[in-house]
Amino acid sequence: MTSTAVAPAKVILFGEHFVVHGTSAVLCAIDMLVQVAVTSLEDDILQIESKVGSCKTMISNGKVTDTLGPLAYIARKISKKSGHSGGMHIIVNSHIPSGAGLGSSSACCVAATCATIGLFSECTKEDIVEIALQAERTMFVNASGADSAASAYGGVLCFNIESGFKKLRSSANLSLLVANSGIQRSTDNVVSGVGEFRANNVDRFEKLCQNESKLISKAIPAVMEGDLEKIGEYFGENQSYLEEIGVSNNTLDKMIKITDEYGYGSKITGAGGGGCIISAVPIEKQKEAIEALTDAGYVSHTVNIDHFGARMIH
Ligand code: PMV
Repeated sequence: MTSTAVAPAKVILFGEHFVVHGTSAVLCAIDMLVQVAVTSLEDDILQIESKVGSCKTMISNGKVTDTLGPLAYIARKISKKSGHSGGMHIIVNSHIPSGAGLGSSSACCVAATCATIGLFSECTKEDIVEIALQAERTMFVNASGADSAASAYGGVLCFNIESGFKKLRSSANLSLLVANSGIQRSTDNVVSGVGEFRANNVDRFEKLCQNESKLISKAIPAVMEGDLEKIGEYFGENQSYLEEIGVSNNTLDKMIKITDEYGYGSKITGAGGGGCIISAVPIEKQKEAIEALTDAGYVSHTVNIDHFGARMIH
């Protein structure tokens, strides 16, 4: 029997980095999907096929590479829970670029968990987030859970390290531009750099956290209403804080300059140092903005909110 599920990528609309130091962040699931198909096997086999690696080993105790560790964790955990004595064949098909701050690893764990549970029983979003996050933490010890929550639940979420996540009841459609710098970076390194900035600029950092919190209170209603013009203005304000803490660079600045000729404002999404920017560009200008980015050598996409989150497709 085969069970197939999809799960969306995410963008951080507001609050990255400051969220690590106690403010809230606003995230949203986007319609860029990873699909995972899981087939139950009679024999003691764990076979995984994905762009980031493949393996064929024993599900009982075979070794897998670190990259495939989270998927092996999911297969083993759910097999044990459901009393499945055979193996599994997992095929991952992702349309989410990896290492770009769009939550590809979390989405992959979320889709794999949804599909694997789906082989044996109905699954709830709570179950998906719990197992997918445990799996992700086998590789990224510090994963906060925000990405897996956004991918599992879909829509727009507010996340805070202390209080967890809250889904914002918005059905607004929001069409944003996501452009990829093509520079892969380690979130941990960029986060450490911000920690150093904070240690050397205690008062200023505190002030920036306060500014970010105020910005987020204004930004949430704009996101709920799908007010692109205001969102763009707030992106610009948020970007100025991100630049001050040192997570932008020449490439990202250049991309922002290009998109800002067509829209209302842009910012880094995620850790920065590379990865992607998001931009509030009105629909009628998106084609031109994408062409300008392509001419400058950057891949970009129009994305919309994915309101559904993880789901079985058959
Ligand atoms: O680029 P990403 O998706 O890894 O996002 C990192 C977001 C940070 O706020 C910089 C770190 C975090 O754990 O929240």
